[in-house]
Amino acid sequence: MLEQLNQIESQALGELEAVQDEDGLQRWKVAHLGRNSSLMKTFDQLGGLSKEERPAVGRRANEVKRALESALEKSSSSLRQVALQRLLEAERLDVTLPGRTTLRGRLHPATQTLREVYRVFGEMGFQVYRSREVESDEFNFQLLNFPPNHPAREMQDSFYVDSGAQRGDNPILLRTHTSPGQIHAMREFAALNPDNPPPVRIILPGMCFRYEQITARSEMQFNQVEGLAVGLNITFGDLKGTLTDFARRMYGQQVRSRFRASHFPFTEPSAEMDIECFVCGGQGCAVCKRTGWLEILGCGMVHPVVLRNGGYDPERYSGYAFGMGPERITMLRHRIEDIRYFWSNDLRFLEQF
Ligand code: DAH
Repeated sequence: MLEQLNQIESQALGELEAVQDEDGLQRWKVAHLGRNSSLMKTFDQLGGLSKEERPAVGRRANEVKRALESALEKSSSSLRQVALQRLLEAERLDVTLPGRTTLRGRLHPATQTLREVYRVFGEMGFQVYRSREVESDEFNFQLLNFPPNHPAREMQDSFYVDSGAQRGDNPILLRTHTSPGQIHAMREFAALNPDNPPPVRIILPGMCFRYEQITARSEMQFNQVEGLAVGLNITFGDLKGTLTDFARRMYGQQVRSRFRASHFPFTEPSAEMDIECFVCGGQGCAVCKRTGWLEILGCGMVHPVVLRNGGYDPERYSGYAFGMGPERITMLRHRIEDIRYFWSNDLRFLEQF
């Protein structure tokens, strides 16, 4: 009997060595520690043994049982260890490896300048007014006091959308400047109270299009920011004060500015505004072409004809307007030498801002 127990033990332990996984362990347990295993049957047979034999066999059977149970325990935990090890190997993650950089978007340099212009005029009480990019000749030119065939149109060669055959002298075109927005805005404001139109204080940003030879200095599409203030008792002094303040807020409190007489059909009198060259401080350099000054915008008092076309009686109301090219401002600021960079979508350019 004792001999038999020794054999049971060594056979079970031998088989256990070959077990590879959890299932195998389970099967082994049933075979060697289960109700029908030889070991458990030995316990059943104890009652049939003689008094002398029984204690020794009982003790030995218990020893074998404990030995098998502890071997099972050990083997089970080492199998779990091996499985975990394998999983760790397979799912290895090297946290010291540098990650892939995420590409961050950014604002286009023209947008950055536009937003700065909005901020400055916003602080001065101007609202942003959006106007359409496709216009009729009437709004783009005629209502702004450019009669058909007026030579001032020469400066703004246009993209006509139709031939004008059906529309006579009012063909459709892509706006050549933001100024037609002045008429749309004034009419919209005036409609609120036709007898006493409310004051207007707006900026009109947006894309303009001209049928131009594309060169380093001129593109066929570009942004403008138009400004318009209409009300009672608005003078040229208001225009100068507002635009001088704009220049200071945009370029620094020290910056000097000057106004030169000019001509636009929709303003009278008209002027061009220069600021002191911020590159050389007015000494004269390549950027300002040795003049010490940089031209930044056109402006003037709104022409009486334009006021009337907008629904404002020029006998009672006056106003000023201005127009600037933010790309040009951006070019001066960052010394960008070619305007074509703005819309050619070259990341090597765009990522510098
Ligand atoms: N519309 C003009 C242009 O594109 C710019 C301009 C000049 C606008 C004077 C104005 C102004 O409102 O008063 O050339």
